[in-house]
Amino acid sequence: MTHIERTRPARLVVLISGRGRNLEAIMRAIDAGELDAEIVLVASNKPNARGLQTARLAGLPTVAISPREFPDRESYDAALAHRVAAENPDWVVLAGFMRVLSDAFVERFAGRIVNIHPSLLPKYKGLHTHDRALDAGDRDHGASVHFVTPTLDDGPVIRQGRITIRDGDTADTLADRIMDRIEQRLYAAALDDLISGRVVWRDDGVYRDGQRQSTPLIVDYDEDALDS
Ligand code: GRF
Repeated sequence: MTHIERTRPARLVVLISGRGRNLEAIMRAIDAGELDAEIVLVASNKPNARGLQTARLAGLPTVAISPREFPDRESYDAALAHRVAAENPDWVVLAGFMRVLSDAFVERFAGRIVNIHPSLLPKYKGLHTHDRALDAGDRDHGASVHFVTPTLDDGPVIRQGRITIRDGDTADTLADRIMDRIEQRLYAAALDDLISGRVVWRDDGVYRDGQRQSTPLIVDYDEDALDS
């Protein structure tokens, strides 16, 4: 993949299923001038997703496409892909989109789809990541933004955020802290990596500032500093 010089803000299509806190964080980063991007569509598989309402209130174009209206995954994904492609996005941003996308969808936007996952990948792909980190006795935990490939939660990582697990943490407290402390900052930073061209995905790996990354960038979030 090569970086293309842009003369306009990057066009983002954001896919959501739920509350849309990551969507809100991206909207805030754009409003604050931290991200040279515009959200050209917010799409959801859930017509009543709270994030759709947030987007509408902010004047963003939205669409809900429910799987119930389609006989199978392939036809649903084809309809979604058609709608997304109509916006000519630079990046397709999965922000709490709780459906596994078919290979055909992923291949259509290959190299341009990113996702945020609440674990330090490659650990804990899939669901219940916080329980699994606690059960394993891990000392730290976090979230990752990665390129999407046909294999679930498996694509190259762009950047990660990490916090220390505290005594007494439960899956709920960890989920909240990872959302509040990491996810609210991580996605905008990772999108900026991509939009600015600092991070590029080539055939032999992910490059940051021209250097091939043998391990992803991990940012430690010092919660005591954030609390003070
Ligand atoms: C986040 O924890 C994200 O990591 C996961 O789904 C959740 C989405 O939350 N993929 P929201 O819809 O952005 O509030």
